[in-house]
Amino acid sequence: MDLSRSAAWSALVSHKHKVETLHMREMFAADPERCNRFSIQWKGLLFDYSKNLVTPKTLELLMDLARQAGVEERRNAMFRGEAINFTENRSVLHTALRRPQGESMIVDGLDVPEAVAAVLHQIKEFTAKVISGEWKGYTGKRITDVVNIGIGGSDLGPCMVAESLKPFAHGSIKVHFVSNIDGTNIAETLKQLHAESTLFVVASKTFTTQETLTNAMSAREWFLNDAVQPEHIARHFVAVSTNRDKVQEFGIDVANMFGFWDWVGGRYSLWSAIGLSIALYLGFDAFMELLRGANAMDRHFTEEPIESNIPVILAMLGIWYNNFFDVHSHAVIPYDQYLHRFPAYLQQLDMESNGKRVDRLGKTVEYATGPVIWGEPGTNSQHAFFQLLHQGTGFIPADFLLPLKTQNPLGDHHDILAANCFAQTEALMKGKNEQEVREELMAAGLSDDTIAMLLPHKVFPGNRPTNSLVFNELDPFMLGALIAMYEHKVFVQGVVWQINSFDQWGVELGKQLAKVILPELQGGEEIDAHDCSTNALIEAYRAMRGQ
Ligand code: F6P
Repeated sequence: MDLSRSAAWSALVSHKHKVETLHMREMFAADPERCNRFSIQWKGLLFDYSKNLVTPKTLELLMDLARQAGVEERRNAMFRGEAINFTENRSVLHTALRRPQGESMIVDGLDVPEAVAAVLHQIKEFTAKVISGEWKGYTGKRITDVVNIGIGGSDLGPCMVAESLKPFAHGSIKVHFVSNIDGTNIAETLKQLHAESTLFVVASKTFTTQETLTNAMSAREWFLNDAVQPEHIARHFVAVSTNRDKVQEFGIDVANMFGFWDWVGGRYSLWSAIGLSIALYLGFDAFMELLRGANAMDRHFTEEPIESNIPVILAMLGIWYNNFFDVHSHAVIPYDQYLHRFPAYLQQLDMESNGKRVDRLGKTVEYATGPVIWGEPGTNSQHAFFQLLHQGTGFIPADFLLPLKTQNPLGDHHDILAANCFAQTEALMKGKNEQEVREELMAAGLSDDTIAMLLPHKVFPGNRPTNSLVFNELDPFMLGALIAMYEHKVFVQGVVWQINSFDQWGVELGKQLAKVILPELQGGEEIDAHDCSTNALIEAYRAMRGQ
């Protein structure tokens, strides 16, 4: 099917011409039921999408597009374990990691629920031992610090969850995350630690990732400076991976390895043993609650008609702006300091999944795919980039997330936070027109000339779309649900764009070239194999370092 020439697509192109003449202010004024019409309540989550550039007809047409693209069929195929990641011939079954025990599902000869349950059991036993102090370091002291060494999906998920759920930590273990190959990351982390009470979790799906293995080697050296005896490594290094041979090759006892499977994509892996550092930090029960929240969202996604399906609506609104308004940027603004890594996590989830330029048939797409995802917590972001959101030349749709309950009740901080969150979505929607600005300036007693000069600068066009996601509390269940909601949003968009959201070949070229350049930086031969810019950069690096 040629997406951009399909009937559903064409209907949306014509419809957009009508909608772009409307202002949300007028749409709200004309329809007192607009908020009820365009919002969903689900298990303590209120999803209000009424402040979008949509009419009931828009939603109808967007759902036609979703149906035409086969969203429901492909969703069912994913949950059934079909190899929808066809470029790697893999199933996509991160949802099976959070499914309660039930019917068996065989994938590549593996009983998936049985295998998942076995690893969960291993995590449960291990975390209980470490947290209780039964698992001891080489001098007999308990473990007080866990360092997760991983990158991409083997870092961002666990790190974001640990940061988000800090108030739920049991408190006897601190967790640290080392990802960057920049030695500063591990050096600054190790400065805070003692080898005898530190446990390293080396997390890598492939166990071949240069950054992770280099950081793990440096951690090993640091540890051996202190512990001296290599046999002590077994009590201080565990691995999370799908690659048993490489774990063994690295020198980690496979008895201390937590496995997962190639049908768990890196950016979808926090639900697997990659979540080990989460379980160590929060306790196993909180980790299970996270899984339960995600599973509840999976059920909503699979059971709810697409018209009232939160991830589907989020996805189709994103497509509305990306493909019909040519807006290729999407902001995520959590009004919760604990969610400060959430936008970074979503960047990998969304941009690594849907940053694709060919469709499933390998044909270059004739429409935009994944947008740029970015954001920072409110209210800091208000004092940084909101100027552009309000008065920049284009609009950027944004998701606003807010918990109703704060983990830190302190005076009226939370009311002020919430007031700002709601006020920003109202301001972005309403704007301030010329007449309102004029009246305000006149009331301030300004002269006609000053008013004429200031007026255009003070007008806010408004009509800028936002989604509000307001939830009771940022607890493990709700966080699990929110993450799964975004996973499914990304999935639906990938289906509509007819791309494979589950591979990431685009990250390979740079990795390969870095392997070529590394020996050149360290050697003394003349550099002429690259373009003149790259040659000059390598030469300059060597000259400045006195090589
Ligand atoms: O380079 C991208 C990537 O492959 C991500 O998809 C992945 O999450 C990350 O690297 C880390 O990979 P691994 O877990 O195999 O070390």
